[in-house]
Amino acid sequence: MAQLWGGRFTKETDQLVYNFNASITFDQKFYKQDIEGSMAHVTMLAKQGILTKQEKDDIIKTLKEILEEVESGKLEISSEYEDIHSFVEANLIDRLGDTGKKLHTGRSRNDQVALDMRLYTRNEVKETDALLKELLETLLTIMEENLTTIMPGFTHLQKAQPITLAHHMGAYFEMFKRDRLRLKDIYERMNYCPLGSGALAGTTYPLDREYSAELLGFYGPTLNSMDGVSDRDYLIEFLSALSTIMMHLSRFSEEIIIWNSNEYQFVEIDDAYSTGSSIMPQKKNPDIAELVRGKTGRVYGALMSLLTTMKGIPLAYNKDMQEDKELSFDAMDTAKGCLALFNGMLKTMKFNKGRMRESANHGFTNATDAADYLVKHGVPFRDAHGIVGQIVLYCLDKKIPIDAMSLEELKAISPVFEEDIYDAISMETCVNTRLTVGAPGETAMKKVIEKEREFLNHDWQNEVKNDWEERLFEK
Ligand code: ARG
Repeated sequence: MAQLWGGRFTKETDQLVYNFNASITFDQKFYKQDIEGSMAHVTMLAKQGILTKQEKDDIIKTLKEILEEVESGKLEISSEYEDIHSFVEANLIDRLGDTGKKLHTGRSRNDQVALDMRLYTRNEVKETDALLKELLETLLTIMEENLTTIMPGFTHLQKAQPITLAHHMGAYFEMFKRDRLRLKDIYERMNYCPLGSGALAGTTYPLDREYSAELLGFYGPTLNSMDGVSDRDYLIEFLSALSTIMMHLSRFSEEIIIWNSNEYQFVEIDDAYSTGSSIMPQKKNPDIAELVRGKTGRVYGALMSLLTTMKGIPLAYNKDMQEDKELSFDAMDTAKGCLALFNGMLKTMKFNKGRMRESANHGFTNATDAADYLVKHGVPFRDAHGIVGQIVLYCLDKKIPIDAMSLEELKAISPVFEEDIYDAISMETCVNTRLTVGAPGETAMKKVIEKEREFLNHDWQNEVKNDWEERLFEK
């Protein structure tokens, strides 16, 4: 048991209590952020004359050594320490003696952990965004290549009207685009530095919080020290954004599972992204899509868990907040893993264009257009709807699509039909005359694709300061 706070105690902590209380098994995940935070803190302390330049240089040099040794595996983060903060500080003191003991001047573990978690999450926001960007690139490529790939569009999982594969993929492009914008918003709101909040009431040392914030790439310091140590809103927002991303991935997975089924055969998932059965030799299962769909639950779980943890906590820090880590880390890793795998699966998936087209031809996906034809020839819409209803009944009986009816058969139901009906209800006409903004017609889609390309070219991550780490390590 290695603790930072033995002074006022007369007894050793009970081992079970120690184990229950310790967080090192999971907070070691942000060892790098903890060391970076300490580097910024001592740099600021020296600038303010609270530490000497020599003390700062020695501490920074040793912190860098500790970081390198952890990264190379030479120094193991062992569970004999209560948490990652104690581990780093104890190692510093082992190596530097009294100078090491000065690191924690004007700081509490409360603002330290608030900072570490925020730094870690901020990085995750960016990494998740980068994965979303890759997925959007894949989607846009499929869209560009499939402007004329006709397929049925569905409502109630029943064939409705013909669309194109580009149009269908475009719907997911919009969803994942909004997901990126959500991450950008979260980044903007969370990018303030809690370091210097102290335990809850700031400190009496003349800290320059603006300076530490700048060193760590934040827009500035947080403005209330009690909120600084006890705010986890940014994490809740991020878990909520991850839940929405997972919900989108899960819907998409569900469609791919349906499209990949023997009945549909709209797509074939690549062998590298499929799995077999131990007993049925013929099986090739869409396990990746199913796992993505399944893992959505645990990400939602992390969000619910943290919302519930936070709801009864009085100001300021309370130990409940240590529970913000394990499930959040799991949710972050899960969402990133799902994004990467889903993208790989989508990229290598074969679209069976013939099957899609064939499927659109059947199921009366052009019935609306047949009614519109009559309307254009002066029939009121409600009457036109009724006439085409009769046509559908007739076709169902004969097991044929509308365009397999002869003109005589059509005229027997409504004399308004002429030879040009066949062109008016061809799949190509149905799709390409839908030209309102956001519709599947080729020229409408091309304009949208241009806008989507522009979105991908203006990466919000290029606009935020990304070089703080290099500058911090230079110092
Ligand atoms: N392990 C703690 C956490 O994750 C660090 C902060 C400890 N602060 C305290 N006052 N015990 O929240």
